[in-house]
Amino acid sequence: MNILVTGGAGYIGSHTCLVLLKEGHNVIVVDNLSNSSLESLKRVKKLTGKELAFYELDLLNLESLERVFIENEIDSVIHFAGLKAVGESVSIPLHYYHNNLTGTFNLCSLMNKHGVKNIVFSSSATVYGDPEIVPITESASLSATNPYGRTKLMLEEILQDLYVADNSLNIAILRYFNPIGAHESGEIGEDPNGIPNNLVPYVAQVAVGKREQVGVFGDDYDTPDGTGVRDYIHVMDLAGGHLKALEKLNSKPGVVIYNLGTGKGYSVLDVIKAFSKAAGKDIPYSIGPRRPGDIANCYAEPSFAEKELGWKAVKNIDDMCVDSWRWQSQNPNGFS
Ligand code: NAD
Ligand code: UFG
Repeated sequence: MNILVTGGAGYIGSHTCLVLLKEGHNVIVVDNLSNSSLESLKRVKKLTGKELAFYELDLLNLESLERVFIENEIDSVIHFAGLKAVGESVSIPLHYYHNNLTGTFNLCSLMNKHGVKNIVFSSSATVYGDPEIVPITESASLSATNPYGRTKLMLEEILQDLYVADNSLNIAILRYFNPIGAHESGEIGEDPNGIPNNLVPYVAQVAVGKREQVGVFGDDYDTPDGTGVRDYIHVMDLAGGHLKALEKLNSKPGVVIYNLGTGKGYSVLDVIKAFSKAAGKDIPYSIGPRRPGDIANCYAEPSFAEKELGWKAVKNIDDMCVDSWRWQSQNPNGFS
C-alpha cells in the first residue's frame, strides 16, 4: 500500500516508517522539520535498505500539500504531524490551535477531494484528563486541561463528525500512553529540542552526563511511592500498533478508538531505577514540587486493542530503558 505519513521524520513517525517499509509498504513522508531532522529518515533508509519519498512542507500550506496528493496514489494516511509540548501550548495556544487544527483540516479536505478514505490519527491519553478510574478504558470520560490536550480532544470529535457526513471514511483514533525507548539499533530515537519536558529523555541526558540530576516532580501523590505513575510503552510496540490499525481500516470499520499502552504503571522512581540498571550507573535525583497540571496515576486498559487488532505491547520497562540508553549513549547530541 502507499501510505502518506505526516510528521514521519519525528520520534514516533520515524519508527513507524521503519516498520512500514519493512512490511513492504511504500512510504510518503510530509514533514516541515519544525521538531525533527532529515537525518532520522536517512537512518530509516539505511536500516531498512529501502527508499521513501520525502516532502519538506507544512500542512498549513494547502497548495503544496495538494502536490503530494496529485503526485502519489495514496491508499491510507497516518497523521502524526502536530505540536506536542504541553507547557508551550499554555504559553502560545493560538499557535497550537492553528498548527494542529488547521493542519488536520487541510489534510482531511485533500483526502476528501482526492478520494482517500483511511486515516490513522495520533491521539493521546491526555484526552482522559485526570482519570477517575485506572486502568483507563476507551469509554472513560474525556476532558482536557491544556490547549495541547484540547487540540487532541477537538480533533477526535471533528474526525467523528467527518465520518457522520461521509460513512465511507475509516478512521482509527489511537490514544498513546507514554512512548519511550528507541529502535534496537540505537540509530534512531527521541531527540528533543533544548531541555527535555518528558521524564525519560531527561533521565537519559543525566545518565550521559549532559545534565546534573533529575528533578522528581512531587513525592506526595496517592501512589505506592508517592511519585507519578504512568504507562510507558516501547516506541517499536507503538509503531507495530499503527500497522495493525492500518490493517483494521481495510475491513472498513468506520470510526474505531484504541488505547495503545501496556496496562502496567511505573512510578518516576521505578523508571529512574530501571534506567540506572540499563546504563550501569547511578542516576542522581532530587525531589521537588509537583509540576502544575500533572496527575497521580495514568495507565491503560489495553485489552480492547488486543481483542480487535490482535496487537499487544510485548516489551517491558527494562527493554525500554536499555534501548533508550543505547540511543542516547551512541548519539549524545541526538541527530545533530
Ligand atoms: P514529534 O514532534 O517528534 O513528531 C511530530 C512531527 O510533526 C515532527 O517531525 C514535526 O516536525 C512535524 N510537524 C509538526 N507540525 C507540522 C506541520 N504543520 N506540518 C508538517 N509537519 C509538522 O512528536 P512525536 O512524539 O513523534 O508525536 C507524534 C504524534 O503523536 C503527535 O501528534 C503527538 O501529539 C502524538 N503523541 C505523542 C506522545 C509522546 O509522548 N511522544 C504522546 C501522545 C501522543
Ligand atoms: N517527571 C518528573 N521529572 C521530569 C519529567 C517528568 O518527575 O523531569 C514526572 C511527571 O511528573 C510524571 C512522569 O514523570 O509523573 C511522566 O512525565 P512526562 O512528562 O514524561 O509525561 P506525561 O505523562 O506528563 O505526559 C506525556 C506527554 C503528553 C501526553 C501524555 C500521555 O508529554 O503529551 O504523556 O500520552 F499526553
